[in-house]
Amino acid sequence: MKKKRILILTGGGDCPGLNTVIRAIVRAAHNAHSNWEVIGSMRAFHGILETPQDILPLNTHSVAGLQVKGGTILETTNKGKPTEFPVQNDDGTWTTIDRSDELIEKLQRLSIYAVINIGGDGSQNISQHLYKKGLNIIGVPKTIDNDLSSTEFTFGFQTAVETATTSVDKLVSTAESHNRVMIAEVMGRDAGWIALYTAVAAGAEIALIPEIPYDINKIIAKLNNRIINGRGFANIVVAEGARPKEGVAVQSVSDEIGYENPVLGGIGHKLMADLKGKISADIRVTILGHIQRGGTPIAFDRVLATQFGVRAFELVQAGKFGHMVTYNKSKFSSIPIKKAVSTYKSIEPDNYLLHTARNMGICMGD
Ligand code: F6P
Repeated sequence: MKKKRILILTGGGDCPGLNTVIRAIVRAAHNAHSNWEVIGSMRAFHGILETPQDILPLNTHSVAGLQVKGGTILETTNKGKPTEFPVQNDDGTWTTIDRSDELIEKLQRLSIYAVINIGGDGSQNISQHLYKKGLNIIGVPKTIDNDLSSTEFTFGFQTAVETATTSVDKLVSTAESHNRVMIAEVMGRDAGWIALYTAVAAGAEIALIPEIPYDINKIIAKLNNRIINGRGFANIVVAEGARPKEGVAVQSVSDEIGYENPVLGGIGHKLMADLKGKISADIRVTILGHIQRGGTPIAFDRVLATQFGVRAFELVQAGKFGHMVTYNKSKFSSIPIKKAVSTYKSIEPDNYLLHTARNMGICMGD
């Protein structure tokens, strides 16, 4: 019997657990009694669009032990989506073209029965576009930011929180020795999930998140109150997307061709500048950056990623295309990708962790 071919790809920023999902899909397909063949496209859809094509055959041998390996063996990119692919004009300037029809044609020539796209909201928007053009596609949600609305958790998030928490733990001890205020800037894009979880886990004094624009005077008062009461040090966790009440997030435009997202980062230094001279303690800033995205996934993320992979394969088997895997209330299900990408998952005012943080005395800057 002719084998049905599944193509896997990883798109957008990488995240601990991507390899774990790849392994799970390959093993589930293998254990479904050899009617399936799995291959991977390198660097999202680029592997299909490039000449020569860059495709990786995947089997139980090539994915052995991948559950612990950070990054993605399929590599990834957050530049050049098929719908707006950058091409250089003769005069050296750049323009974009839609290569999605060409992509679908190339997938047909490769006899691809179904595609599993492991990625965040940007990647799933591409999935939806290709699904509407008739491609059999399934989405698997990934991002350390945990900002996809239809799923309680994305894999990679808990690992990022673990990394950020152990880092802030270390900052606490040096802050205490020097009686300093330590600012740790964490990732999260327009959501404060990593910052809020980290602040609660590490026992920070102040947590600043994009959902709650902060009042610098409230932060100064909190710090001065603490210092007057004999504690000379404090720890602040600030999300990269946080912003003051009367201001905007610190961001810039990337000069990398095909990179569309605003580049966030720098709020930690802005905060230090705004606090200088207003408090008696010295201040230092640590930007955790891509450390949060690298390395081995923690056990929770390995288990979640494995379940996502198995579920994605089951959706292919069931022909439930145009759906994205979800995890809610300990259940693995799926929803139409269109719905999955329609809302952004921010921290709502009634979120219980936010309530907990406030009750723990953490100042949210408001
Ligand atoms: O979306 C994940 C994320 O890690 C964000 O938190 C961060 O702003 C961004 O990616 C950084 O992406 P890049 O890999 O392009 O530096």
